[in-house]
Amino acid sequence: MADLLPLLLASGEELTRLYARADAVRREYCGEAVPVRAILEFSNYCANECLYCGLRAENAVPTRYRMSADDILAAVDQIAATGVAGTVVLQAGETPGYSDDEISALLRRIKAAHPALAITLSVGNRPRAVYARWREAGMDRYLLRFETSDPELYARLHPNGSLAERLQCLRDLRAVGVQTGSGFMIGLPGETLPTLARNILLCREFDLDMIGSGPYIPNPDTPLGAKPNAYADDPEMFFRAIAVLRLVNPAAHIPATTAFDAVFPGGRDLVLQRGANVFMPNATPTSLRRDYQLYPGKPNVDESAAQFADRAVARLRAIGRPVAAGPSHSLKRPPPEQE
Ligand code: 5AD
Repeated sequence: MADLLPLLLASGEELTRLYARADAVRREYCGEAVPVRAILEFSNYCANECLYCGLRAENAVPTRYRMSADDILAAVDQIAATGVAGTVVLQAGETPGYSDDEISALLRRIKAAHPALAITLSVGNRPRAVYARWREAGMDRYLLRFETSDPELYARLHPNGSLAERLQCLRDLRAVGVQTGSGFMIGLPGETLPTLARNILLCREFDLDMIGSGPYIPNPDTPLGAKPNAYADDPEMFFRAIAVLRLVNPAAHIPATTAFDAVFPGGRDLVLQRGANVFMPNATPTSLRRDYQLYPGKPNVDESAAQFADRAVARLRAIGRPVAAGPSHSLKRPPPEQE
């Protein structure tokens, strides 16, 4: 861990070198082409009370919604038709929006209609048996951030669970054989620089296929709303964190997360040049986006769902990066055998 601290404190020429190294490692392991993974926020119901999140159960979100299976299918058809996104990321609050069996049925329908589209699911902690059933139903990947590697901080921010439970879920996912993604927020109140270093190392320990990390953004509608980001005085830390994440996890898919756009105009474009390699545009129907505000300032709430692909391509073109063709595979494990 001590090795990472100087990198996380780099400035001036050292910082320039850090970014150049992260970009070079990204190029070597991931190539120039950017996999595009379209996010579909299909339900904002949540049973949890995470202290930082706008969807927490207690919050008076203007409207709680769950898209019908038909609407989800129609949205996935649209995503597949763009030919730009090789993956759909189905994200929702944790229970009770959709039951485990309803999700299985949904996965089967999507796979039947779009066998070439990879499906990432992200709906929180579940028993291993449920993950196994979902895998059988067609789930290729799962996203479950551990949020912070500090067990006490985790417990304070998450009244509904422990870090140990969260990490067990990640082991379960790996055991059932799905590509596993996790990650953390950068700058949670109470986080220290050693915590950030440990977050990065924990990703390596879990040998993650994918690591999603972005700045913590205070949400005034939450109990944590008045607490600033731990690096509010040094927002460069958000980028250093991604660069170091790349050096320590060279073969992981690292997306340029939405929260980077919320803190810096063009933040996602920058981070794609400092270690990140994946773009995850939002493909949620426009009318629902305002009701999926984890934090304020989430970009593109007025964008039409039909625009996401063209906009993604244009953004990537502007930084000289082509879109990757087809569903991207794990860079760590061999691609699944052809059936
Ligand atoms: N700021 C930044 N990220 C947040 N998330 C939830 N609330 C916030 C916030 N206030 C992130 C969490 C979660 C992911 C879906 O969104 O890391 O895992």
